[in-house]
Amino acid sequence: MEKVNRSILLVRRPKGMPKAEDFKLVTNSIPTIKEGELLIRSIYLSVDPYMRGRMRGIKTYVDPFQLNEVLTGGIVGEVIESKNLSYKEGEIVEGRLGWSDYSVSNGDNIRKVDPNLAPISTALGIVGMPGLTAYFGLLDIGKPKAEETVVVSGASGAVGMTVGQIAKIKGCRVIGIAGSEEKVNYLKNELGFDETINYKTENVLKSLKSACPNGVDIYFDNVGGEISDAVMRLINFYSRIVLCGQISSYNMEKSVESPRVQSQLIQRSALMKGFIVRDYADHFEEGYTQLGNWVKNGSLKYRESIVAGLENAPKAFIGLFEGENIGKQLVRIS
Ligand SMILES: NC(=O)c1ccc[n+]([C@@H]2O[C@H](COP(=O)([O-])OP(=O)(O)OC[C@H]3O[C@@H](n4cnc5c(N)ncnc54)[C@H](OP(=O)(O)O)[C@@H]3O)[C@@H](O)[C@H]2O)c1
Repeated sequence: MEKVNRSILLVRRPKGMPKAEDFKLVTNSIPTIKEGELLIRSIYLSVDPYMRGRMRGIKTYVDPFQLNEVLTGGIVGEVIESKNLSYKEGEIVEGRLGWSDYSVSNGDNIRKVDPNLAPISTALGIVGMPGLTAYFGLLDIGKPKAEETVVVSGASGAVGMTVGQIAKIKGCRVIGIAGSEEKVNYLKNELGFDETINYKTENVLKSLKSACPNGVDIYFDNVGGEISDAVMRLINFYSRIVLCGQISSYNMEKSVESPRVQSQLIQRSALMKGFIVRDYADHFEEGYTQLGNWVKNGSLKYRESIVAGLENAPKAFIGLFEGENIGKQLVRIS
């Protein structure tokens, strides 16, 4: 166990692709807790694409990260000391905490994780925020019906691979778009996707036309850009386009002009809707239970890419934009 508390700070706002020099590792003493607080030893840290937006210094739906302050994100950890009646030593918790070996909480920003439901790392992935994003985005906005054609971009990531599998559970035909042969093979051979497209080696529109002979009923968009422009050309009447993420533009300094889609939406009586997972905060318990049960009974498979060491968290974060991960990207801290 670390005898000191190491933390990662954001010291420079990234320009374009984030770089190692935008981050700094600092060492402090382990914090002490007051009455009502608890001390958490971090075990897993989650790196997530949305954090790139918080590094810009502009308020969006969340406050920006401040320079020279500890980054915060999803952490799974163990309570090692508690002066809070609701938490006991040894319990596993998950919450938005610092990128540090140790964090102090008053209990408001964390939840308990049941290690019997699924491995604790999944509280940051398939039975955590990305899983909830897939679950509510697909079911509430996409409203999949059996036999429909569902296309998901960013398909081999934490959200995407969950979307595709839930669509299969609902009886849909699923086409996944991802960025390597290893990824598309995994989606098809291990997760049962019907068709896959490697957007780095294939002509996406051409491959989509052959993979979707009856058009696209639901598009779950994780990436935006030219991939989404191609999918939009094939949408069906009454199709639903679920706007989850636009990772292809997160490192852009200027927005890029893209085709206007309003006419297409009118001509196909289609729905396009963006969402943020916390829109569904009142229903998270339902999501955790259903996702946990699907994992437990084998209906949902998951994969994690795990990097060791807090000091490697920036590298793991940057890797998200280079397609390094298959499934949920985590950092093992202790
Ligand atoms: N709306 C919400 O509440 C919400 C919540 C969570 C996540 N999201 C969004 O959902 C998306 C997926 O998140 P995640 O956590 O599951 O991440 P992820 O998919 O596990 O990791 C990112 C993946 O994006 C792909 N990618 C990177 N740059 C790309 C580009 N220029 N074009 C196409 N693909 C690219 C890479 O795979 P390839 O090898 O395939 O390129 C990479 O592995 C992100 O856009 C994220 O912001 C939204």
